[in-house]
Amino acid sequence: MGDMAENIKIRVCLASDLRRLQTHEPPNANIALVFLNRQDAGDIIYATAWIGDEPRGGAVLDFQTDPDPELKHLFVYPAYRGQGVGRALCEWIEGQARQAGHRAIRLGVDPDNRAAVGLYESLGYIPNGDVETTNYNYIGAHGETQYATETTSIYRKCLTQS
Ligand SMILES: CC(C)(COP(=O)(O)OP(=O)(O)OC[C@H]1O[C@@H](n2cnc3c(N)ncnc32)[C@H](O)[C@@H]1OP(=O)(O)O)[C@@H](O)C(=O)NCCC(=O)NCCS
Repeated sequence: MGDMAENIKIRVCLASDLRRLQTHEPPNANIALVFLNRQDAGDIIYATAWIGDEPRGGAVLDFQTDPDPELKHLFVYPAYRGQGVGRALCEWIEGQARQAGHRAIRLGVDPDNRAAVGLYESLGYIPNGDVETTNYNYIGAHGETQYATETTSIYRKCLTQS
């Protein structure tokens, strides 16, 4: 990882990033736009990962979940996985949760998602035994609406130790 990880910069998403982020989205998906609007409303922090001028992925910290804020929508563009971008996004999001005065952070992950489960466990997230099923819509690669059901295991990390 070494050299690569040092060049990764994580920062909040700005309106001026929109055009560059949209080149990585399916047509009309408006993923970054929706997150930016929610960030402007104060509901979330929208983190983006950069190497130089190029975005490499993002993640959301949702403050509307109770009692702990939730790490959501962690995504690293496929060509840039395995280089520490996902870890850097998670650590930055944890710092934001701490700064906002929260003592823990939660997330939901598909137990079959080996890369994500491996990352979260290496960062100290622990499953609390809860399982949640959510239904949601998203825009597919060709701009079509897709319907999905996802069952996730809930993990939690205490932010006051370490
Ligand atoms: C999950 C995801 C964000 C990981 O991002 P990444 O930048 O590739 O991860 P990193 O390079 O920072 O890896 C950090 C750790 O994750 C684990 N990990 C990453 N990829 C892995 C894989 N393919 N298999 C097992 N463990 C893996 C390892 O513990 C790794 O630590 P190491 O490099 O010291 O071994 C990325 O694979 C992704 O975007 N997947 C699709 C979207 C998704 O599933 N998001 C999570 C939703 S809950």
